[in-house]
Amino acid sequence: MKAWHTLLLPLLLWVGSEVGVAMTACTTAKFDDTIRCKCTADTLQDPLTMWVCINTHELEFHDGFLYLQDEYLSKMVEVTGQLKLTMERLSFTRVHICGVLLSALLNILPETKIRRLDFTEAKLLQMTQPPSPTQPFPVTTISMEHVTFHPCLLQSLVPPLNIWLLSSLSHLTLRNVTRGLLVGSSDCVSTVMLVNMTELDLSQNSLTDDSVVNVSRCLSSLTQPVGPLVLSALRLSQNQLHMLQELCPLLQTSPNLVELDLSQNDLNYSAVGSSCFGSTGQLKRLNLSRTGILAAEEVVPVGVEVLDLSGNRLQEFRNPPEELKELYLSDNQLSMLPDLVRATRLEVLTLDRNQLTSLSGEASLMMVLERLSVLRAGGNPYTCGCENTKAVFLLRMYHNKVQDWPEAFLCTDPRNNSAPHWLDDLEDFNCDETSSGMGMSADVLLSVLAVVAVTVMLG
Ligand SMILES: *[C@@H]1O[C@H](CO)[C@@H](O)[C@H](O)[C@H]1NC(C)=O
Ligand SMILES: *[C@@H]1O[C@H](CO)[C@@H](O)[C@H](O)[C@H]1NC(C)=O
Ligand SMILES: *[C@@H]1O[C@H](CO)[C@@H](O)[C@H](O)[C@H]1NC(C)=O
Ligand SMILES: *[C@@H]1O[C@H](CO)[C@@H](O)[C@H](O)[C@H]1NC(C)=O
Ligand SMILES: *[C@@H]1O[C@H](CO)[C@@H](O)[C@H](O)[C@H]1NC(C)=O
Ligand SMILES: *[C@@H]1O[C@H](CO)[C@@H](O)[C@H](O)[C@H]1NC(C)=O
Repeated sequence: MKAWHTLLLPLLLWVGSEVGVAMTACTTAKFDDTIRCKCTADTLQDPLTMWVCINTHELEFHDGFLYLQDEYLSKMVEVTGQLKLTMERLSFTRVHICGVLLSALLNILPETKIRRLDFTEAKLLQMTQPPSPTQPFPVTTISMEHVTFHPCLLQSLVPPLNIWLLSSLSHLTLRNVTRGLLVGSSDCVSTVMLVNMTELDLSQNSLTDDSVVNVSRCLSSLTQPVGPLVLSALRLSQNQLHMLQELCPLLQTSPNLVELDLSQNDLNYSAVGSSCFGSTGQLKRLNLSRTGILAAEEVVPVGVEVLDLSGNRLQEFRNPPEELKELYLSDNQLSMLPDLVRATRLEVLTLDRNQLTSLSGEASLMMVLERLSVLRAGGNPYTCGCENTKAVFLLRMYHNKVQDWPEAFLCTDPRNNSAPHWLDDLEDFNCDETSSGMGMSADVLLSVLAVVAVTVMLG
């Protein structure tokens, strides 16, 4: 079969060039392990140029208006007859998709191997003739980002059509598709999609607490009550969620939840205890970046491995969970290093742009630096004083782990209002050992070197 195509292809290209078709209409390129064929939207006007896409796994149409003329329909059927043998993923980027094509696509999908559809910056126009499904919808993953829908298209997505489309999905991304969002509407129909969903991303919409309440209400009012959901990732970044407690019932129905992203919602935590996130038990990744949080101790569940608390108003962070591998605390108001002695698995730590004047508690800084692979700690109002000399020594020693060293580490001398210095120049301050700041004595230096030597030998 392959040999046959190899012969056919030059022939077709030759025929194509005779009739003046742009040869660049479709190109193939390798992405990870799959071969993607990229075609401009007008390719559909001459489907034969799509022969280069045969035996590839992904087909992308980009830039233009996708529509079908009847005269090409038979050629199209011939080409798709071949394409559907291997094609697993279909993408549309910056295209307008006419309703006839959309409807034809939905009708033909059950006969293909296509399991994933991607729409990016696309516009879906009105379906004059909605598809009439006879077989289950085969697609399990749909991703839509910056997609707009013709209002009439939404009106035609009524039961049983939307149930057909949604209930087979295991992965759904609807980012910035506000007007097409079916979730949380009062009629409960789209709740059916939650039954088999493992990853749901509804970021960058205008979801309100109201929608979340409606989803919870719908779940509990389904005629066939669902057991625990299989949901493992829920991303709700950049919405208009405020009352965190409204989300708790949904989280409590999702015992398999591993990842939760609530970043960039202005959340009110006051009525929530640790039971809300803690109820899931499995949560490993929690993103509470830029949620207005003032204190984290009460909401962060034990067992979390990746915790993003950046961009909040934390003044301290006591008792970080012991399982932590990545901790993001940039852009807060911390004036003290968090106590990380028990977080023995920590690999990534960010502390940049806080209110740290020193990296005091050098013993713990050294222990932490030894096990970390990435640290950011610049952008703090460090003092040019002897209290920082030991930290500077450690930062220099581990400079390949400290991403923003030395350029982001400035200090000022609190005794006079001198212009900021580089912390890296601190040895110029001539700390003497008897001063309150504990200069780097020979003893300390030796013991640090001994630890390094042992670490090197053991490692
Ligand atoms: C949402 O998409 C529109 C275009 O459809 C774009 O102008 C806007 O910037 C996007 N919003 C976000 C938050 O990305
Ligand atoms: C959920 O998945 C199971 C097994 O894959 C399937 O039998 C069931 O019909 C699906 N539920 C819905 C609502 O599609
Ligand atoms: C939630 O449901 C109520 C009716 O129960 C409805 O009035 C409201 O519009 C729904 N909220 C959203 C965001 O759809
Ligand atoms: C948390 O969310 C923000 C966007 O809201 C993102 O920039 C950041 O990378 C996320 N953190 C992690 C650890 O994934
Ligand atoms: C936060 O929620 C509590 C309890 O529901 C409420 O009393 C308080 O006014 C809320 N605060 C804000 C800023 O909305
Ligand atoms: C004031 O700052 C300068 C650097 O600009 C420094 O050399 C000097 O020691 C400081 N003076 C005092 C009294 O600390």
